[in-house]
Amino acid sequence: MKAAEIVQLKEQALDEARRSGTAADVEAVRIKYLSRKGVLPGIMDGLKALSAEERPEAGRRANELRQELTKALDDAKNALQAAERASGQKRFDPTLPGQWRGLGRRHPITQVVEEAIRIFSMLGFTVADGPDIETEYHNFDALNTPADHPSRDTQDTFWLGPGLLLRTQTSPVQIRVMESRKPPVRIIAPGRCYRRDTTDATHSANFHQIEGLYVDRAVSLADLKGDITFFARQMMGADVKVRFRPHFFPFTEPSVEYDFSCHVCRGRGCRVCKQSGWIEISGAGMVNPKVFKTVGYDPETTMGYAFGMGVERIAMIRFGIEDIRHLYDNDVRFLEQFG
Ligand code: PHE
Repeated sequence: MKAAEIVQLKEQALDEARRSGTAADVEAVRIKYLSRKGVLPGIMDGLKALSAEERPEAGRRANELRQELTKALDDAKNALQAAERASGQKRFDPTLPGQWRGLGRRHPITQVVEEAIRIFSMLGFTVADGPDIETEYHNFDALNTPADHPSRDTQDTFWLGPGLLLRTQTSPVQIRVMESRKPPVRIIAPGRCYRRDTTDATHSANFHQIEGLYVDRAVSLADLKGDITFFARQMMGADVKVRFRPHFFPFTEPSVEYDFSCHVCRGRGCRVCKQSGWIEISGAGMVNPKVFKTVGYDPETTMGYAFGMGVERIAMIRFGIEDIRHLYDNDVRFLEQFG
């Protein structure tokens, strides 16, 4: 093919490229002219048949065809894409399904805390709060737990400096509340606690408690038992059993530990309750008169009970969770089963 014919063919190819209305058209033009069995390789082959004078000019024209057509095809493709984008914004199809973002759920620990607040508010309790970073005085001394007291060993903790620590229990909130108001007092105080515990299926160095404190002129252990039992039935169901065992805490006298019957196996024995049928919830007792004296209440005319509650333990039996660590893994597939 001579140079003049190649130029003519180039014009035709460019024209076809410009007139392409779809991406498929553009591709068809490319295949027709530039693919291995297309027009251009045929021209290149044909150069051999030309005379030595004609060949360089024809070769140049053939190269021009390739370059200009490649560019024209690119331009056509870009223009088509831009037009598609521009019209796509206007094209709104109201019949397409919407995008579902998924609903969040409250964490099991939050659910238990909120449920406890609801239950105790029926008994006239309000919510009090205290800092996670506590003074040694509020966490220990004011709770009748001086520096040489053996019960400090079991709560050896994270010290932040002299006299400052991450609270090992929510009991310091008792002290803060009594320091700041006169009786009667009826509060619960949910919050985080910290202990130097080795993590296993039922222990975590970071956990939650709910403290309870009821102080008035005439409060008895019977009130404590009645209120805890009411709470247990509301939280676990009417068939839950509550068991009180004698115990010791420096800031209550007498003191108890209390258990709920295992909700997972209904008391028959399972992994969650370690085959005992009971789950230890925490401690409680009548406020020690020494504590009243420390906060400036008159121990002669004041009586009260206090209790603690392990939130994770309640969550584990309420939801049948076998390992406390599941609560902190932040695995949505696990957490979305609850609530
Ligand atoms: N603070 C105690 C603990 O963490 C529990 C407790 C609270 C006991 C209130 C008596 C009264 O073990």
